[in-house]
Amino acid sequence: MDLSKILKIRSHLRIRGNNLFIRNISLKKLSEEYGTPLYVIDAERIIDKYKEIYNSLSKHFKEFNIAYSYKANHSLSVVNLLSKLEAGATVTSYLGMELALSSGVSPSNVVLVGPSKTKEELRYAIQNNIGLTVVESYEELLSVDSIANELGLVANVGIRVNLNIKSNTHKKIATGLLTHKFGVNVNELHLLLKKCKKLNNVNLVALHSHIGSQILDLNPLKRQAIELTKLYIKSIENYNLKLNTLDFGGGVGVPYLIRKSYITYEDYAKVISTEMKALLKNKNLEEPKIIVEPGRYIVADSSILLTKVNYVKKLGNKKWLLVDAGMNDFMRVALYDAYHEILPVEKLDRKFVEKYNIGGPVCESSDVFAFNRMLPSMKSGELLAMLDVGAYGLSMANNYNIRSIPKTVMVWKDKVEVAREKESLEDIVKKEKVPNFIKELQLVSP
Ligand code: LLP
Repeated sequence: MDLSKILKIRSHLRIRGNNLFIRNISLKKLSEEYGTPLYVIDAERIIDKYKEIYNSLSKHFKEFNIAYSYKANHSLSVVNLLSKLEAGATVTSYLGMELALSSGVSPSNVVLVGPSKTKEELRYAIQNNIGLTVVESYEELLSVDSIANELGLVANVGIRVNLNIKSNTHKKIATGLLTHKFGVNVNELHLLLKKCKKLNNVNLVALHSHIGSQILDLNPLKRQAIELTKLYIKSIENYNLKLNTLDFGGGVGVPYLIRKSYITYEDYAKVISTEMKALLKNKNLEEPKIIVEPGRYIVADSSILLTKVNYVKKLGNKKWLLVDAGMNDFMRVALYDAYHEILPVEKLDRKFVEKYNIGGPVCESSDVFAFNRMLPSMKSGELLAMLDVGAYGLSMANNYNIRSIPKTVMVWKDKVEVAREKESLEDIVKKEKVPNFIKELQLVSP
C-alpha cells in the first residue's frame, strides 16, 4: 500500500499525527460530531478542479462554457458553489433545469440533453431560453420545432451525433456506439440537417457528442473531436447552416486507482483543440464556441464517505469488515464493480498486513465495497474513509432497505457546515399515502 502515492494526487488529503485529515480538518473529529456514515465534501477541491478546467480551456479556446453535469452530484451545496464560479450546467430533466436556474445559472449556459425528453421538458427549456436543447432523434427535432412554434419562439438546438466510437470504460457507462440508445447516426444526421433548413422555429447552433464516462485514454476522445469537427464543417459547408458551437460532452476520467497513466484536463483540452484547429485551418470559418460537460472530473475526489466498522468476522477463509455504510449510500461498487480507495482514518503508520472483504448492512450480496483489500488489522469501532465518492455518490444514493441517505457536511478551510441532514422515517415517507381502502380495512385473519 503506497499511501504517499494515493495522497500525492489528492493534495487536499493529509496525514497529521498518523491520522487522516481533509486539509486542516480531522476526519475523526467530524465523525464524532456528525456521526457515520457521513459524506464530507471539500469545497476548495471543487474550486481547484473547476479552475484547472477553466485554465486549460482558456489556453486553447477563445470561447467556452463549462456546463457542469449535474447528474454527477446535484447537492445544493455543490451546484450553488459551482454557480458562484459561473459554471454552466448540463441537465437531463425538468427538475434539473429548475435546479440550475434556481441556483443562479444563467439560462444561456444551460444545456438540456437526454435521449427521451418529455414535451413538457422541451417546452420548459424553450420558454426559459435555455442556451442549448440537444435533440437525439428526428422526431424530437420536429417536437422542438412545433413547441417553439406554439410559443412563438425560436429554440437554440444542438444535435447529438452517435459517432460509433468505442471507449475503454465499463460497459454500463459507455454511450458512444451504435448499439447504445444515444443520438442519431451520421447518415441520419444529414436528414436532420436538411430538415433544419426548413424549420422556422429551430435555430441549429451546435453538434454534440458524449461517448462515455470515466475515459482514461485520449485516443477515443481525440477521434471524437476529429469526427465531430468534420461533421461541423460539413454542416456549414454543405447545408449552409449557421452553426457556431461544438459540444464535446463529458467523460474525462479520474484516477480512482493509481495507474501508470491517467489524463489531465490540460492533456484533453490540448488534444481536442489541436485536432479541431487543424481541421478548421484554411476553412475560413470562425472558431466555434466550445461546450464541455464535465461531471466526474470536477467533483469525484472532493468527497469522502466516512464509515465505521461495526463488526469484524471470519467466514470461510475470508475476513470481513462489516461497516455502517451500504450500497444505498454509495452504489458505484455494486453497480459497476468500481474500485475506490479505502483507508483507515487513524494510526496510518500501521502496516497494511490483512486482507479484508468490506461489506455493508444491506441484505444483498452486492453490498460489498471491496474484496481482498489490504488494510492494517482492524477492530470494530474503527473508522474507514472511502475516497473519491463525490461523483455519482450522493446523486445515486437512495433509501433501499429503509436507510436514510447519509448526512453530509461541506468543509471550506476551517469551516464545517451541514449540507444535508440525515433523513428520518418521516422524511422518507413524506410523499407517500396509505390508500383509504387500506386504512378502512378491518383486521381479518387470513
Ligand atoms: N454529458 C452527458 C450527456 C452525460 O451523459 C454525462 C454522463 C456527462 C456529460 C458527464 O460525464 P462525466 O464527465 O461525469 O464522465 N453513474 C456512472 C456514470 C454515468 C455517467 C452518465 N453520463 C458512474 O458512477 O460511473
